[in-house]
Amino acid sequence: MSPASMHGVELDLDQRPFTERGSRLLVTSGPDGLRVARAEYETRLADTVELTALVLRDADGKPLPVRSATPVAVEFDGGAALLFADPATLVLTGQDVHASWRLPDGTGRALALDGCHVLHGPPAPFGPPPTPFGLPPGEWSAAAVRAAAEARWAAWFARMPAVRPDLAAAARTAWWTLAVNLLPIAGREGLVPSKYGYVGVWNWDALFHAVALRHADPALARDQILLFLDHQLPDGRLPDVVHEHGVLADTTDLPRADHARLAEHVGTANGARPTPEPVPVTKPPLAAWAVWKVHETDPDLPFLAAAYPRLVRAHRWWFTASDPDGDGLPEYLHPYSSGLDDSPIWDHGPRAEPPDLNSYLVLEADRLADIADALGRPAEAADWRSRAAAHTDLLVARRWDGTRFTTLAAGTPVPVRTALDLMPLFTGRLPTGIAASLERILRSPAYWGERPVPTVAFDDPAFDPEAMWRGPVWLNINYLLIEGLRRSGFPDTAEELRERTLAMVRDGGGLHEYWNPLTGTRAPRATSGFGWSAALFLDLARADRQSDCPH
Ligand code: GLC
Repeated sequence: MSPASMHGVELDLDQRPFTERGSRLLVTSGPDGLRVARAEYETRLADTVELTALVLRDADGKPLPVRSATPVAVEFDGGAALLFADPATLVLTGQDVHASWRLPDGTGRALALDGCHVLHGPPAPFGPPPTPFGLPPGEWSAAAVRAAAEARWAAWFARMPAVRPDLAAAARTAWWTLAVNLLPIAGREGLVPSKYGYVGVWNWDALFHAVALRHADPALARDQILLFLDHQLPDGRLPDVVHEHGVLADTTDLPRADHARLAEHVGTANGARPTPEPVPVTKPPLAAWAVWKVHETDPDLPFLAAAYPRLVRAHRWWFTASDPDGDGLPEYLHPYSSGLDDSPIWDHGPRAEPPDLNSYLVLEADRLADIADALGRPAEAADWRSRAAAHTDLLVARRWDGTRFTTLAAGTPVPVRTALDLMPLFTGRLPTGIAASLERILRSPAYWGERPVPTVAFDDPAFDPEAMWRGPVWLNINYLLIEGLRRSGFPDTAEELRERTLAMVRDGGGLHEYWNPLTGTRAPRATSGFGWSAALFLDLARADRQSDCPH
């Protein structure tokens, strides 16, 4: 069986580059041949090019086109191939074939292939790879390098969760995406959102990644969460990003380009511009939710015991440090902390309280209760549950206006209607009448189309089908709403949303960052090979999912 038919993943060398688990090298096709660049935190690939214009020719000088590209190798006509010998080393294999390429300084290189040759292989710039491929350089024969690549990909695909046949092709691409997005970061193997543009480990992304990894490699799933718990700040906050140079935990850590990007829309609707003082930056509180999901799949009391005190401190941080008006309902103090950077909510000011935040905090309290129970601390568990109940009551009393949950920006209600308005369903604790109203709103033309759920209501003046968080469908929002619908007693709507979400991904041409809800295609500025789209698609597609309890 050829590797392509074995794994069914074809790389287009554009949205799906040739790359490897643990490798920062990306091989893509350019106008004059293949290009190799390195993925680095907040750096454009154009600035990290290692070589370009890689072309192979036969003995008569005739170019040998790429015949196919799979996770294992880029294959050329004439039998030559490009493979990874280890995460930092690309080799060319072949006979009677000439290779030529250009280095970034403009100089050319050439090689007559006769066996196995290193094309690019400096020592790994970011320390030794955590998963060396087990081939000492002296043993790099074409056959050995290929056999090792085939074996590691066969082992990876053997662990893919089972899905039904119509979803298998998309699931294999998703599973490949999760492998190649793994990089050594801060002493662990971290799953980056995308080697195109997001080369670090982002906080809530890591939690969503853990949700899929728990089915195949629970230890790797736990590592995604531990990466953040390891970097908890003294005040209890979990950073927004952990990357190879440090963390992003407040606005002084932001790359300069981000300030410029935020300045384009934050506060433009009413002049409530950001202040220059440093502001903490984190992501929505879902860590206890993810810890418990991993534990349910692979019970691990020592992990729960190590995580619990840190989760408690992270939870408290929201109430002590992120509730500027002290009304008991925390706010996001920065657009990035909401995870919805470009949402029109932020047009109204740099601090806001959409209804998702306090819904997540309710659920976190319930999960802290489950963890406390598992650790044999029933009194603490009872306390967490009463906090969850009281916080739900507060959210309803202060923010339900009889027809919808209000979003506040800089302390004032704002008119924009987003999918976050429906997120109180996530608590599973709403009074029945309110839960029913939210489900009705979700199923109304404001949110329900062939491809729900638009992140901004279809009929809101701010709706834009292609702009980040201003209308496109994102898989994490759908996933959280599917769970919330089940938890709130709407299993049929949950199932319909799950089916529509799966169909959108299956038919949409890739694991995009976000989808245009009107066309079902990738929104033009969305990145590709996006980790949480791959992870949550796989978790939603699992064949054994029906047996999950709607916890
Ligand atoms: C974007 C998203 C944010 C996400 C990050 C990494 O900034 O808005 O939610 O965590 O990308 O994927």
